[in-house]
Amino acid sequence: PSHLDLAVIAGDGIGPEVVAEALQALHLAVRDEVRVSETHYRLGAEHYLESGEILDDATMDRLAQHQAILFGAIGGAPNDPRLAGGIIERGLLLKLRFAFDHYVNLRPSRILPGVTSPLAQPGDVDFVVVREGTEGPYVGNGGAIRVGTRHEIANEVSVNTAHGVERLVRFGFATAAARPAQKLTLVHKTNVLSHAGGLWSRTVDRIAKDYPQVAVDYLHVDAATIFMVTDPGRFDTIVTDNLFGDILTDLAAAISGGIGLAASGNINPDGAFPSMFEPVHGSAPDIAGRQLADPTAAILSAALLLEHLGHTEAAGRITTAVEADLADRGEARRSTSEIGTAIRHRITSL
Ligand code: NAD
Ligand code: IPM
Ligand code: MN
Repeated sequence: PSHLDLAVIAGDGIGPEVVAEALQALHLAVRDEVRVSETHYRLGAEHYLESGEILDDATMDRLAQHQAILFGAIGGAPNDPRLAGGIIERGLLLKLRFAFDHYVNLRPSRILPGVTSPLAQPGDVDFVVVREGTEGPYVGNGGAIRVGTRHEIANEVSVNTAHGVERLVRFGFATAAARPAQKLTLVHKTNVLSHAGGLWSRTVDRIAKDYPQVAVDYLHVDAATIFMVTDPGRFDTIVTDNLFGDILTDLAAAISGGIGLAASGNINPDGAFPSMFEPVHGSAPDIAGRQLADPTAAILSAALLLEHLGHTEAAGRITTAVEADLADRGEARRSTSEIGTAIRHRITSL
């Protein structure tokens, strides 16, 4: 059998609850085709409050040695002053995305059979958001002066490089070209953010010439939120920047059955660093510790991980099992472990 050397960062809140189910599904799905070893890293808000450590260089070096990372979610209590300013989000999650050059944040959305959308007439929803992962307003290029005074000035500068936009847009076109609908929608705000918008638009126009079979569309981000609710079937491959992509993918999750189903991959397509797979949702402190979290998003993230590493059959077993589970889930409310167990039974009986 081949070998899969996995790093696991379960994190905070519901992170460990959903990751436990995802790992069990993964182990069952690979059967005896892949020998899996997992190394758990205790990281997150809770670990920081205990140890003062967020993510040190030695841990980064160890993480870099793994083939892939399965990530749960991080983030502590909402109003904890010791966690103010997103130090865990920046010092852990964004640090990993930046250091491991996860420039593609891949977030697929589909309304699977059996799943009820909050939209009355959702139509055929099957699209993928190719979100930029290493640039935009996330890089921390900014600062504030006269903080706390009436003359405070606070800047967050969105960084968009020709290199960063081009590699993301190329990945977007390759993604669109491989999908049946072959349609790419650039989402931006070129009517206001014209410097960055110009770079994104020109890049899309230029790369489009290499993909004549892909239809190209453009939407301002505000209008994109309209269509995501009124006509989500119009989307196939959405290419967008880091912040727009963050917001759009929570909306995409909501219309396609809920945040508990939305999986994602932070991909380093060059393979120089391990890619990292995680549910789109966060640590959900409001429901943590009560077995209320839906582990499906984490389980589907494990499937994306397997798919990324070429374990296509094992990945397919997970998605088939999840689809079967969703198809007759009904209205009954199940606990985290009940959902995990039901999906495992499906994997076993495939
Ligand atoms: P959240 O995604 O944690 O929760 C938003 C809402 O969705 C909550 O009502 C929550 O109960 C619900 N929800 C989330 N996951 C669910 C699941 N699997 N099943 C059922 N319901 C689910 O977002 P938030 O409340 O804005 O953030 C909480 C913390 O998580 C913050 O510290 C934030 O920074 C962090 N966060 C981390 C990640 C990550 O680790 N990748 C992602 C988003 C937010
Ligand atoms: C996500 C999260 C993160 C983001 C936060 C926690 C840094 O919301 O993965 O969508 O904004 O990318
Ligand atoms: Mn988000």
